[in-house]
Amino acid sequence: MQITDTAAIVTGGASGLGGATARALAARGGRVFALDLAPAIEKAEQVEGVTYVAADVTDPEQVQAAVDQAAGSGVPLRIVVNCAGVGWAGRVLGKQGPHDLELFRKVVEINLIGTFNVLRLAAEAVAKTEPLVDDQRGVVINTASVAAFEGQIGQIAYSASKGGVAALTVPAARDLSSVGIRVMTIAPGIVDTPMLATVSDEFRAGLAAGVPFPKRLARPDEYAQLAVSIVEHDYLNGEVIRMDGALRMAPR
Ligand SMILES: NC(=O)c1ccc[n+]([C@@H]2O[C@H](COP(=O)([O-])OP(=O)(O)OC[C@H]3O[C@@H](n4cnc5c(N)ncnc54)[C@H](O)[C@@H]3O)[C@@H](O)[C@H]2O)c1
Repeated sequence: MQITDTAAIVTGGASGLGGATARALAARGGRVFALDLAPAIEKAEQVEGVTYVAADVTDPEQVQAAVDQAAGSGVPLRIVVNCAGVGWAGRVLGKQGPHDLELFRKVVEINLIGTFNVLRLAAEAVAKTEPLVDDQRGVVINTASVAAFEGQIGQIAYSASKGGVAALTVPAARDLSSVGIRVMTIAPGIVDTPMLATVSDEFRAGLAAGVPFPKRLARPDEYAQLAVSIVEHDYLNGEVIRMDGALRMAPR
């Protein structure tokens, strides 16, 4: 599917992987609507072809308004990339006692339910566009994590949320096959984004040393490159692709 003259929604589009994807899609002629929380948008750089829209992915009304804006932009909405997410940590049983239930709920709410909220509302708009070759109308790309498969100590909520994102890929692709919408998920390893901003250089070097090859953290533009490839490759559907340099996370 071509990107030129197509509207795209990128959640978490003001930072990290979403920011890189918004820039990559805009550079290829896409009209990008970058959904993010207002404080993140305030810090985001202005990019030609990218319109920032303040919206919380867990809020149905805010997401519906953003979808309406993208769908009414004058070019068809066909691309959705879900990058909004949080990585808050906590153990099942920590020094302060059992895992905070609200924290667990919140991580699942943003990472899993937020992804699904955008998927369902955007799919309705994409389904109304004119079909292209093979009756394709669009593509949704979600972001899981290698933590969906081998979550580390302290990643119980994050892993559960990302496992849900990985698991919904096939049923979503099946559900939306009748309207010509593909659904794919990218499971990144460790990418050098603001999500890692709080870790020390020493810890960062340790993370890089654990990657078999290439022996470094991934770059956000490598995620964007994969997202662009998925958009352009019409036969990719219903699959989770790891982008991790063959990394398999250890318990800690
Ligand atoms: N960086 C990594 O190593 C890595 C690895 C695997 C998976 N991921 C996943 O990739 C995605 C992007 O992460 P990143 O590293 O770019 O992080 P990031 O913190 O740079 O970007 C995440 C963005 O999501 C936004 N966001 C958070 N909650 C939101 C909400 N409720 N509504 C709308 N926007 C919201 C934040 O404001 C932020 O701009 C996340 O889902 C993350 O779990 C990241």
